[in-house]
Amino acid sequence: MPNYLSANRANWDERADVHIEDSTGAYSIADFLAGDDVLFPIEASEIGDIAGLDVLHLQCHIGVDTLCLARRGARVTGLDFSENALRHAAGLAHRAGLEARFVLGDVYQAPERVGGAFDLVYTTWGTICWLPDIRRWGQVVAALLKPGGRLYFADTHPMIQPLEEIDGRLVPTFGYRTPTGVPLAFTANQTYTGDTRAFLNTENFEWVHPLSDILMALIDSGLAISRVVEHEGLPWQMFPMMTKGADRLWRLPAGHPRLPLSLSLTATKPG
Ligand SMILES: C[S@@+](CC[C@H](N)C(=O)[O-])C[C@H]1O[C@@H](n2cnc3c(N)ncnc32)[C@H](O)[C@@H]1O
Repeated sequence: MPNYLSANRANWDERADVHIEDSTGAYSIADFLAGDDVLFPIEASEIGDIAGLDVLHLQCHIGVDTLCLARRGARVTGLDFSENALRHAAGLAHRAGLEARFVLGDVYQAPERVGGAFDLVYTTWGTICWLPDIRRWGQVVAALLKPGGRLYFADTHPMIQPLEEIDGRLVPTFGYRTPTGVPLAFTANQTYTGDTRAFLNTENFEWVHPLSDILMALIDSGLAISRVVEHEGLPWQMFPMMTKGADRLWRLPAGHPRLPLSLSLTATKPG
């Protein structure tokens, strides 16, 4: 297998430097610093009251969402494998005057890095596609939660991940389950926010995990799934045909057969 971890990390380090500048406003950093809660409506309406909870934000990136959780009264820890992302996250916390702990580490090392006593593990929007082994992810999430603690997950729906837009149509292009040892290899010359700066580290590797693998990874790790929701919106423009709504979510155009674009779920570790 190629060294996916170091390739992806180098790519994310570069993305983090671009994202913190937020030249296109995709990360809503100006609104966040002005005091707004910039979580998307999907998670904002689903996470419930988190005040006073110990929350771990896995793959926290530059910390915008982590700090929104802090504003909601949670004690937050963000974990990410990109040093640049965490440096920017700490800077953002300072600028916003919010308390947060940011810890460097690969997701699979998370229990050794941050322990296993969280009330909520929160992971959203661009997460498991970077992880080669979804069963190990389930085990890690279970290990991070205290008894009675819960996972909140929201991300791209596996049904649309195999698709690409070609000549205005969505065409199955990738397999629905990416083998752990044979990742999908991509070249990203620039990031997805619309900022056109060119990357030096363009190579990156991803995995598509089907719905059954995601759910079974959690079930086999002893978590009880209590809620699964499919949504017709996504926080980024995955296909050129998508249009952005007033709620900042992108959707398929009117007249296109409806497809689930994102998936959210809650799962609890038995008390
Ligand atoms: C799309 S971003 C997640 C964005 C997040 N929703 C937020 O709050 O901004 C993906 C993040 O996953 C991190 N990442 C990718 N693979 C990782 C891994 N194996 N371990 C830890 N972090 C990883 C990247 O560094 C990046 O910050």
